Amino acid sequence: MWLRGLALAALAWAAGAEAAQHEGLESIRQRGYLRICADPSNLPYSSNDPAAPGFEVELARLIAAELGVTARLEWRATYVRAIKPLRDGACELFMGLPVDRRFREGNPWIAVSRPYYTMTHGLVTRADAGSLTIADLKGQRVAVELASIAEFYVAYRDVVRGLYKTQEQAFQAAARDEAVAAFLWFPLAAWLARGRADLKVVAVSDEGLAFPIGAGVRKRDPGLAEAIDAAVERVLASGQAQEVLARYGIESARRTSREPSCSPFVLVQEKDPRETGRALFSTACSRCHGAEGVGGGTGGALPKLRNYDGGYDKFYRLVWEGRKNTAMAAFKGILSPDEVRALYEYLTSLPRQ
Ligand code: HEC
Repeated sequence: MWLRGLALAALAWAAGAEAAQHEGLESIRQRGYLRICADPSNLPYSSNDPAAPGFEVELARLIAAELGVTARLEWRATYVRAIKPLRDGACELFMGLPVDRRFREGNPWIAVSRPYYTMTHGLVTRADAGSLTIADLKGQRVAVELASIAEFYVAYRDVVRGLYKTQEQAFQAAARDEAVAAFLWFPLAAWLARGRADLKVVAVSDEGLAFPIGAGVRKRDPGLAEAIDAAVERVLASGQAQEVLARYGIESARRTSREPSCSPFVLVQEKDPRETGRALFSTACSRCHGAEGVGGGTGGALPKLRNYDGGYDKFYRLVWEGRKNTAMAAFKGILSPDEVRALYEYLTSLPRQ
């Protein structure tokens, strides 16, 4: 599932490889089934438990039916290189991919259909907490997954970040009152909170937190991208898709969210790179280089990065390759070149100290 791969370290999915095999619409119709890669244990998205298949699996079955074929699930774990099986030809369809420019540019061999839902974030709090937003949680501890989009988001809001290795652990922290709230993907939050009258989940779909989600296929498979897109259009028009999503609590996400930011165009807009740089710096660099680049945390001996004047090329090379025999690691494969640029823009925009 795409969302597990969203963590910072996984942003470097291999791009542009060749599809191993070409399975166009015609050959799929002839053989009578569509192969779908899905994670066997990633609820609420997908699962190989027939009693609880997950909404992506249910939606994939509807899409296959629209093509006039049956669905055949190819179970593949997704926490590493989620989309590799699609690239390698293990299946023709991979659900749950973001309709966004960055993903498209990083994976030019994939075509993603029109979105069938918008993935937002969810704020999990006590049911009796009143109506809360992140802004109301100033100074309080909010549980987030380390290096997740939620962490980036709260990093420059005045909350105390409680960092956890997984979204589930962040949720459990709020459920145990170790944090006043947890902030994670809405579908997972709704799933984990199901049946818990003591908790509630509020959808938050501010810019940067909401992602239109579609179904992915290889561009090289003749006729398939168009057919899948049309199938998605039909399962939305008939209301079947909404019915599935509602059973997983996701329709309610749309009702409580602020609709405008559900537009796919939100993600296509250019963000100020300094904003991106600021969020990245606080997650990836500040523990050594100090908040806002004021200099070394514990050792105290690191140069003030906000005063860095070695020029972009040198900065890029240093961050990309790291510096041998020092704590300065290579960020190649963790950050994208755009992100290194954003870090540079951010640092050089800060007043010298
Ligand atoms: C684990 C600690 C650590 C982290 C995290 C870290 N750095 Fe460093 N960084 C260092 C150390 C230590 C040095 C000094 C290396 C040396 O002795 O030359 C350094 C040096 C640098 C320098 C060279 C400064 C100069 O003037 O020579 C740059 C630029 C830099 N880091 C950028 C970054 C950026 C950007 C990030 C985040 C993406 C980052 N660092 C994350 C430890 C860290």
